[in-house]
Amino acid sequence: MNGSPDPSPVFVITGASTGIGAATARRAAEAGHRLVLAARSTDKLEALAAELGGEERAIAVGCDVTEWDQVQALAARAQDAFGRVDVVFANAGFGGPRGFTAGEVDHWRSMVLTNVYGAALTIRAFLDAITATKGHFLLTGSVAGRRSLAGSLYSATKWAVTGMGESLRQELNGTGARVTLIEPGMVDTPFFDDKPTNALQADDIARAVLFAVSQPPHVDVNELLIRPTAQDN
Ligand SMILES: NC(=O)c1ccc[n+]([C@@H]2O[C@H](COP(=O)([O-])OP(=O)(O)OC[C@H]3O[C@@H](n4cnc5c(N)ncnc54)[C@H](OP(=O)(O)O)[C@@H]3O)[C@@H](O)[C@H]2O)c1
Repeated sequence: MNGSPDPSPVFVITGASTGIGAATARRAAEAGHRLVLAARSTDKLEALAAELGGEERAIAVGCDVTEWDQVQALAARAQDAFGRVDVVFANAGFGGPRGFTAGEVDHWRSMVLTNVYGAALTIRAFLDAITATKGHFLLTGSVAGRRSLAGSLYSATKWAVTGMGESLRQELNGTGARVTLIEPGMVDTPFFDDKPTNALQADDIARAVLFAVSQPPHVDVNELLIRPTAQDN
């Protein structure tokens, strides 16, 4: 490419194919970020990348966050495409039925690996890039990571994410990089098999993400817990 490098910041999102991740991609693009969109289903990512301006502005990268080689390849692809990374939103995750005898143990394994190990691998792969730009990590926790839900291993995974966010904030203290935990209550996304009522919309969370990202460099919004007005617990 000729001329000076594009100054617009680069925003990486895992779990970008639907729901909160896709809504955040749209808001980030609107705010002038270039996007690296990651998830397992590349068809949806490619359609979103095209909608957001094509390869100069947004790229789609197939990545299972539970596979270290794929997460490393995601970080390398972001650098190859755009030369820097300013924001990483570790958002990929899913839930499961409540009850410690409910569901299948294989589902537990992939949920724990995605929600906890996947978030940690994402941090590991992008730590140097984010430190280099005095950038910003955001992790999607949950209200379920601030209060326990009965019979919910999902809730336990989100408690782990809450702990990881504060551990990471302390590790990065002094580098100029920032860490924000995004903790949604109920949001109407494909997370739920049945459409929830009185829920937040994915864009409600996307606006909160952009609020944290758009603060001046000396302000680190550590946590944003956002429930629908109608949610009691
Ligand atoms: N909806 C809610 O009420 C709510 C509340 C609190 C927290 N959250 C959290 O918000 C985050 C986003 O969820 P959402 O509500 O937006 O649901 P969603 O629409 O189902 O989005 C989940 C995203 O994660 C991706 N994903 C799942 N497993 C993955 C893996 N192993 N590797 C890479 N990507 C993976 C999915 O894409 P692929 O399947 O294509 O990989 C999808 O893009 C999750 O961490 C969830 O726990 C949701």
